[in-house]
Order: sequence, then structure tokens, then C-alpha cells
Amino acid sequence: MVKLVAFAGSTRKESFNQAIIEVAVAGAIEAGAEVQLINLADYPMPMFNQDEEAAGGIPEHAQRFKELLIEADGFLIASPEYNSSYPALLKNAIDWASRQAGDEKVLAAYRGKVAGIMAASEGALGGMRVLVTLRMLLENIGTMVLPNQKAIARVHTLLDDNGNVADEKTIKQLKLLGKQTAELAAKVTAS
Ligand code: FNR
Repeated sequence: MVKLVAFAGSTRKESFNQAIIEVAVAGAIEAGAEVQLINLADYPMPMFNQDEEAAGGIPEHAQRFKELLIEADGFLIASPEYNSSYPALLKNAIDWASRQAGDEKVLAAYRGKVAGIMAASEGALGGMRVLVTLRMLLENIGTMVLPNQKAIARVHTLLDDNGNVADEKTIKQLKLLGKQTAELAAKVTAS
């Protein structure tokens, strides 16, 4: 069974990106994937500093996060757009997990993996610009990013009172992205 790890680049309590990743996860599970949805709040990491890494190695939560990625076939990532790019929280986690230790292969967390990426914003572009930067980042470290991606604009108008995505068209699109990510991960893993 194909294994995906899913996370949002926001730890905000009412995060829109947390809301959309849950729908994509449902789509991947319906397609037969095993998905572990994590919250980066449960993986608190210091801001990366190479001196501290040299002195103390990879911190515990960064190591746990890295191991999850290493064991996965692919990822679902929902990122907020901060000033047209990804938040430091997300980049910091990706950076920590990119570090090689012991007899690990170079970029073992990312190479040969696939990713489905999405964004949500109250704005009219839906975070479309962060997807450009996130795609470039992931591909540069060896992760194949699905051509399909979703930027959910005016996301606050698409939720119910509990903060869950309620708009049928949006649910369909996000589930499809989850399904396609699971299917591509299965193909890549089999090849
Ligand atoms: C933002 N926001 C934002 N939105 C957007 O569409 N384009 C942008 O460039 C930015 N820039 C930006 C910078 C900073 C520093 C913050 C804090 C916010 C708004 C942002 O997308 C919004 O707060 C989202 O709701 C954050 O995602 P979560 O936490 O809801 O998942």
C-alpha cells in the first residue's frame, strides 16, 4: 500500500490550509493510500543553524519528521502564501529533513518521492504564487511534483461553521489531487 505523509505549512488553530489538506487526505485514502496527517505544531524545531547542527546533530522533532518523510512514498502539502512564498515554518522543516546523517543517502527524505501541493488564501489568487516557489523547491531536492495543483481563492467563503471545507466543487478538486498523488506515488514506487 502506498504511504503518504500530509501536512500544512501553518500551525494556526483555524488554519485554512489545515482545512484543505484534510480533504486532499480523504481523496488519497479513498484511492487506497495509507496517509499520515501530521501537524507541524507536534514537531517543534529550532530555526536551522549549522553551528548548532554541528554541535548537537539533528534535534529530536526534526529527526522524527525526517524519518516520516524517509519512510513515505509521497507527500501532500498545503502551504499558506506569505509575501508570495512559503512560510519559514515550512521551509525550516524541509531544510532540517534535507540534512544527511550517518549512512543515509543524500536527500533520502525527498529523492524519488512525489508530492501533491495546494494552497488556500482569503485573497483572489488563492496562494497561487507560493505554489510556484514550493514546486521549484521540492523539484530541486528530487521530489516530483504533480502537474495538477490547487490554489483555493476566497477560502473563507467555502467553509462551514466548523471551519471545514463545505463547497462541493472545492471538495471534488482537492480529493482529486489527493487521489492523483496516491496514484502517481504507487506508479513511481512500482517502477
Ligand atoms: C500573508 N497572507 C498572504 N496571503 C496571500 O494570498 N498572499 C500573500 O502574499 C500573503 N502574505 C502574507 C504574509 C504574512 C507574513 C502573513 C502572516 C500572511 C495571508 C495568509 O495567506 C493568510 O493569513 C492565511 O490564512 C494563512 O494560512 P492559514 O494559517 O490559514 O493556513
